[in-house]
Amino acid sequence: MASTMPPDRIEPGEELAFARAVMRQFHEDATEAQLSRWLPVLRRGDFRGWQVRDGDEVVGTYGAYATSVSVPGGGRLPAAGVTTVGVAQTHRRRGLLRAMMDAGLDEAVEHGEPVALLWASESAIYPRFGFGAAAPSVVHRIDRGAAFHDPVDHALVRSATIADVERDWPAIFERLRDERGGCVTRNEPQWRLDLIEDPEDERGGATGRRLVHVPGRGYAAYRVKPDREPALLPGGEVLLQELIATDAQAEAALWQHVCDIDLTSRVVAWLRPPDDAVTELLVDPLRARTSVGTPLYARLLDVAACFEARAYAAEGQVTVAVEDPTRDQSGTYRLEAHPEGGRMRRTGDAPELTMTVDVLGALWLGGRCATQLLAARRLRQHAAGAAARLDRLLAVDRAPWTPFEF
Ligand SMILES: CC(C)(COP(=O)(O)OP(=O)(O)OC[C@H]1O[C@@H](n2cnc3c(N)ncnc32)[C@H](O)[C@@H]1OP(=O)(O)O)[C@@H](O)C(=O)NCCC(=O)NCCS
Repeated sequence: MASTMPPDRIEPGEELAFARAVMRQFHEDATEAQLSRWLPVLRRGDFRGWQVRDGDEVVGTYGAYATSVSVPGGGRLPAAGVTTVGVAQTHRRRGLLRAMMDAGLDEAVEHGEPVALLWASESAIYPRFGFGAAAPSVVHRIDRGAAFHDPVDHALVRSATIADVERDWPAIFERLRDERGGCVTRNEPQWRLDLIEDPEDERGGATGRRLVHVPGRGYAAYRVKPDREPALLPGGEVLLQELIATDAQAEAALWQHVCDIDLTSRVVAWLRPPDDAVTELLVDPLRARTSVGTPLYARLLDVAACFEARAYAAEGQVTVAVEDPTRDQSGTYRLEAHPEGGRMRRTGDAPELTMTVDVLGALWLGGRCATQLLAARRLRQHAAGAAARLDRLLAVDRAPWTPFEF
């Protein structure tokens, strides 16, 4: 449905009404403390907010950060980090989201961002706008005290201070971006929101954030949610916010640390990559119950620029017909891939594969499998072996991963 209420960019002074509307749409009551933390973020130069008003009321919101994303091979690509999307309960299913999405993605193109990224609250919303789940994540629930293969020295892990976070952790995070595609920039204000500020009203009944590190090599941040039920055994939960390491020994030491915290019974770790080391570190992998987590979605706004920005696992070619019902990326493209880069151009050749732009976005960073999508009838193959060939070209050493939500 086309909306009759056009979206507008938010102007200076309109951030408060925008923020209140976003929180209402996500069923949260905006406290003064939350608003005071959030308003500076909305006023930052890298944030572009759109809204739909009905009289004085803000009934639709959409925002995008100008950011960048790592791609296989270590490159970085400008990206729009879409966020704060919502429509008032009273104004749903009248095309407001569609109108804001069109305006916001047009603006991303104007800003030279060939891709838009987002975390979705519900998986069914965004594929129709061309977003594909490009970087899957998993959730682990790991029993406390699970035995580790070849344990490393616990003493490597030290408690960390905010000064350590500010000084050392961003470099560790950048190493992750060199190693993995799909990792979004974390700028200084985002570091502050995610790992430095620790407001009491956002702890959800858990402790303040605990910070540990293997200096210069890795870090972990977690909270402990105590079990208040009278019980024979302590049953607190370690809520692992983030664990990143630049080498295998530091990674093992950090996992050993968080999996053996006194007065707890398990670790819950969200937004972990599918190729997480932890399940291989455990002697009994069944002590980790791993389930599907929320993926990072990618919307290719310039298919050729996205594929030419990344490196490839092998040399080879494949021709793909792309269907883009909501923007202008439809066409048949020929990908010529080389380990050091690739060339992707529109072609008059017959396609070997046909897929919608959300499926191509899902495949872009090597985190999904064309042969699996073929088996699920999410793409069509016209030349035998073409899906498997595309998988060989797009294969990556490490799965794409962004360890935080924006
Ligand atoms: C999701 C939300 C933004 C949709 O807004 P909306 O203005 O009702 O959406 P539109 O009317 O523009 O719908 C566009 C299309 O998406 C579909 N759609 C919208 N919300 C959907 C949902 N939750 N699940 C599946 N499809 C959805 C519509 O049916 C429509 O499809 P069509 O064009 O094929 O008919 C709104 O329901 C909302 O604010 N939800 C709560 C907050 C939220 O989940 N935000 C998203 C955060 S990532």
